Amino acid sequence: MSHNTAAGMERENDIPRHIAIIMDGNGRWANARGLPRGEGHRAGAESVREAVETCRQLGVDYLTLYAFSSENWNRPKKEIDSLMKLLERFLREKLPEMLKQNVRLHAIGRLGMLPESCRQEINQAIEKTRNNNGLNLILALSYGSREEIVDATRNIAVKVAHGEISPEDIDTTLFSSHLYTSNIPDPDLLIRTSGELRISNFLLWQISYSEIVISPKNWPDFRNADLRAAVDEYARRHRRFGTV
Ligand code: IPE
Ligand code: IPE
Ligand code: MG
Repeated sequence: MSHNTAAGMERENDIPRHIAIIMDGNGRWANARGLPRGEGHRAGAESVREAVETCRQLGVDYLTLYAFSSENWNRPKKEIDSLMKLLERFLREKLPEMLKQNVRLHAIGRLGMLPESCRQEINQAIEKTRNNNGLNLILALSYGSREEIVDATRNIAVKVAHGEISPEDIDTTLFSSHLYTSNIPDPDLLIRTSGELRISNFLLWQISYSEIVISPKNWPDFRNADLRAAVDEYARRHRRFGTV
């Protein structure tokens, strides 16, 4: 897919700048082992650690992980509570590693809906890693793309109502800049695990031209070699962006 002729540049362009992952299949992973769903989420946390490590090794700039969707609020309270606790613990335990590895944390979604203790861990990790300039790790939490688009539209409408911008100013660039992902380039590669062929309200606007790779593996089984295989597949694709 690379059109670079300069020696040594080939490999670099074959690495996606931004990888987004729909981490699916934790529950099925646990079910298959006769374990409660929570064990699947716990095992999935190790795959998160490995994905971060692999992205660092490959020189990926942005990794966005879909960790909790707007619709996931409809799950049983018990599962939601254990997911929030797991997230809290994950952030607290991984903060030293993120600092050491120069990882900068971001979060997108309606974060105000998360429990207070969870929000504190997130804000603390974002604050403490803000000067890091290695991998950008973006957690999508209480995230729904339709909600994001609605929020952006409302913010733009307020600006129009206040006369700060006029309707003619609204174009794709202005719209993008009002999304939660305003400072983040669009994903080059979208991965979904567990074999499901759907988007489930994830980054609808941003994945317009992303390459999609679906892995049959459940998220806790999706490790270093699997992520590298997905990136290799990406490198074999020919992105056309509507041109010939
Ligand atoms: C993905 O695994 C994690 C979250 C959505 C929080 P699931 O919990 O959806 O697992 P399955 O899809 O039921 O196997
Ligand atoms: C998508 O997985 C959301 C996350 C991975 C956080 P779901 O398991 O919620 O999606 P559906 O219900 O299978 O579409
Ligand atoms: Mg699922």
